[in-house]
Amino acid sequence: MFRKLAISATAALALTSGAAHAAGGAGYVENYAFSFEGPFGTFDQNQLQRGLQVYTEICSGCHGLQYVPIRTLADEGGIGWTEEEVLEYIDQNFIEVYDPDLQDWRAATPNDNFPVNDGVGAPDLSLMAKARTGFSGPYGLGINPLINGIGGPEYIASLLTHYTGEEVEQYGAILYENETMEGGLISMAPPLWEDAVEYADGTPATVDQMAQDVAAFLMWTAEPHMMARKQMGFLAVIILGIFSVLLYLTNKRLWAPVKAAAKRGTQAAE
Ligand code: HEC
Repeated sequence: MFRKLAISATAALALTSGAAHAAGGAGYVENYAFSFEGPFGTFDQNQLQRGLQVYTEICSGCHGLQYVPIRTLADEGGIGWTEEEVLEYIDQNFIEVYDPDLQDWRAATPNDNFPVNDGVGAPDLSLMAKARTGFSGPYGLGINPLINGIGGPEYIASLLTHYTGEEVEQYGAILYENETMEGGLISMAPPLWEDAVEYADGTPATVDQMAQDVAAFLMWTAEPHMMARKQMGFLAVIILGIFSVLLYLTNKRLWAPVKAAAKRGTQAAE
């Protein structure tokens, strides 16, 4: 009986670990320490602003952010700009959106979403930090994600910094070798280089820095209310904690007469 159980348990484990592999996470992902990790982690407003700059000046050339309303740049708990700063951003970066009514492009307003951009077949980045995982397993048990988080932003930052420099030609297309990308080849040329942007806050724009900043920004686009969620979760845990103590005491009290009666019964029988 026990042997049978052990065999089927091992088989199940082997199967789940195989499935986790097939679902992704085969690539190398570095475990960066982001400010928003852990139950009390918060977004670093300056980092989000730098990430937005990297996105705007580099990534938006090929990628869209079509599910993110521009006005949310002024929301609390995120980039934290004023409404004037949002207008300035649109103005200075000539952000334009396609208007189906006009059948033409026009200047964006804060109420528009960031533009769609699928011109070169690059995926939309709005939810990318939630669509990729950095950590899985071991053996499908999910212990790694429990400790390190799902690892979406880690995946993005690693992807941007783990090109090997090798190029491969496949069916006439150039592919770039990358240690993070599943399968090891990606059609996106390395998008970052030293000092590709000049940060307003004076932070040196190394490739590593820009990769982490834009990854943090994309975590914000994917989950803009993460901080509110964490606060809510913490409150819920405290309330449930108090509730458990109350339930325990109520339980004791409700059963006390029954237990006492039972005790009397056994004493009488003796
Ligand atoms: C020159 C165009 C171009 C630029 C600039 C560019 N990308 Fe890409 N990106 C692509 C293309 C094309 C793909 C699809 C690659 C593939 O599937 O092989 C891609 C894919 C991706 C992916 C998904 C990889 C996966 O796991 O499927 C991420 C994440 C990404 N890019 C992030 C970025 C970030 C962040 C920037 C800015 C720092 C950026 N890209 C700049 C063209 C670009």
